Amino acid sequence: LNYLTPKSRQEVLDLLVTGLKRLEYRGYDSTGVAIDSPDNKDIVMVKRTGKVKVLEDAIQEHFSGAEYSEPVKTHVGIAHTRWATHGVPCERNSHPQRSDEGNSFVVVHNGIITNYNDVKTFLSKKGYEFESDTDTEVFAKLVHHLWKKHPNYSFRELVEQAILQVEGAFAIAVKSKHFPGECVASRRSSPLLVGIKTKTRLATDHIPILYGKDDKQLSSDQVLPRSDSTSEFMPMAEKEVEYFFASDASAVIEHTNRVIYLEDDDVAAVRDGILSIHRLKKSLDDPHAREITTLKMEIQQIMKGNYDYFMQKEIFEQPDSVVNTMRGRVRFEENSIVLGGIKDFIPEIKRCRRLMLIGCGTSYHSAVATRQLLEELTELPVMVELASDFLDRNTPIFRDDVCFFISQSGETADTLMALRYCKQRGALIVGITNTVGSSICRESHCGVHINAGPEIGVASTKAYTSQFISLVMFALVMSEDRLSLQQRRLEILHALSKLADQIREVLKLDSKVRELAKDLYQHKSLLIMGRGYNFATCLEGALKVKELTYMHSEGIMAGELKHGPLALVDDSMPVLMIVLRDPVYVKCMNALQQVTSRKGCPVIICEEGDEETKAFSSRSLEIPRTVDCLQGILTVIPMQLLSYHIAVLRGCDVDCPRNLAKSVTVE
Ligand code: G6P
Repeated sequence: LNYLTPKSRQEVLDLLVTGLKRLEYRGYDSTGVAIDSPDNKDIVMVKRTGKVKVLEDAIQEHFSGAEYSEPVKTHVGIAHTRWATHGVPCERNSHPQRSDEGNSFVVVHNGIITNYNDVKTFLSKKGYEFESDTDTEVFAKLVHHLWKKHPNYSFRELVEQAILQVEGAFAIAVKSKHFPGECVASRRSSPLLVGIKTKTRLATDHIPILYGKDDKQLSSDQVLPRSDSTSEFMPMAEKEVEYFFASDASAVIEHTNRVIYLEDDDVAAVRDGILSIHRLKKSLDDPHAREITTLKMEIQQIMKGNYDYFMQKEIFEQPDSVVNTMRGRVRFEENSIVLGGIKDFIPEIKRCRRLMLIGCGTSYHSAVATRQLLEELTELPVMVELASDFLDRNTPIFRDDVCFFISQSGETADTLMALRYCKQRGALIVGITNTVGSSICRESHCGVHINAGPEIGVASTKAYTSQFISLVMFALVMSEDRLSLQQRRLEILHALSKLADQIREVLKLDSKVRELAKDLYQHKSLLIMGRGYNFATCLEGALKVKELTYMHSEGIMAGELKHGPLALVDDSMPVLMIVLRDPVYVKCMNALQQVTSRKGCPVIICEEGDEETKAFSSRSLEIPRTVDCLQGILTVIPMQLLSYHIAVLRGCDVDCPRNLAKSVTVE
């Protein structure tokens, strides 16, 4: 957004497109941009599916006229890369989304508006017709509805009223033809920052926050920076300032390193070149101002945050990604769960002959991890299958089977072929993917989007924990009306509410795991043993070690130890054992003793404060206690960290391991 710095619309578009390019690393499937028409009477939008380059070409075609090269003093443009959560990637679903055919209000949005169906129903009754499948469109239309209802409201007040009505997560920026030169942005749970570019040094290091309802405040001298004011907050000696709203500093860093990170429910508005930050309510300890921080990072660094690799970033994102998977679905206050994508099919699923869970690699492991709980809470037979092997066997499938296809990318060829195989035989197809609009999504009858956010590292991490939680949520839905299972369900729901904090605790083991990696990285092999709910962690841990470090590693079912693998154990073989206080504790202790009596010196993953188990080894990692069936989420994280650190120590390419691809679209 630029104020008092003459720029042509073409230059504004350039600036927006460069910003989008800086965000490309986050993954997206479509793009869009909106600016004012040359006569300032309308808003012009261009949207495309695919890469920013496609949008750039379309922009060149659309805006090459001389009228777009005229310099303007004030202008607001918005742009977006979309990674689909509601509705397949297509131009209609791309952002900006609009309020009406006249483009009165246009909106770009990151996040998920979880009550969009309720808002949509309300607006439909008021006569609004929806043109996209997105949750975002309801926001644009809601602002429009409020504008008609309250013609005297400021733009900021309209957006403020709208965000009061929506639930979920959002970072949102709104532009309107009724408020030219103004932009209003807000956030809740999704990141949003304001970049401030001035010619001379800013004279202030903060922007005061305004509270309450009085719109007059917005134009008073308190609301600064204001170029004609004499107040101490006046930052612009040269009357030149550009503001940038962005979800990520990488989009603005080439223009300015001065940014304000907005907090949840802040409403930031720019009007007459003045930025104001507003909140509806003030509680006692709320601050008076938002700090302007100076970023010292390079673009590359910002993209990965403080992390060296995307995989590392994704491991550390898990406290948030698991919450995003549950968002709008798990209602902790009511102890209920709604999975919108399959709720209409639940009666049919309850009548099925068996559940089949099918996937490849890490996705397959999420099925292994949740099988026992699914058996317990659905009281149905559950088969867990590797897609390739399932096809090799021409596995019998029946019309009353329910087949789950689990895939981060939604494009894995083996999984997709297994899906088609089952669909042909009349089974009900449920997709569990991280990619809306992917082939698996499109070809499924129903499903759950795991909403873990784009995963860039080839080795899957946060998608695994989100797949895990999606399947747990499904098990909880299936047992909703089973009286005998209510106690168990409550225990799991309670544990889910604590999970994000517990993941944060586990992530604090990072430096300890790095020390452990130093002991292990020169070895040839690593055995990972466990059983019960944690066997999947052994398989997934070993897969991570193989993928990332090129070391040999094996996930061993502790119950099978004496049937062969024990022969591998001696005083030099690195062994990692998961021994938790769950129903298989005694059996795991047996295995531990079998290993130590062969001079093995295992690293033990055990529960916090379990001195008795810890005493069996000089090296252990303690993790918080949760309910047995979720423990696998907490035990897999040290394995992710360990494989990561070993890979770094061995000099391997963490984000792109040799010979592997993120999405394997060939058989
Ligand atoms: C590839 C990736 C693995 C992934 C597997 C399944 O092999 O390298 O990380 O687990 O495919 O991918 P999907 O997208 O179906 O989950």
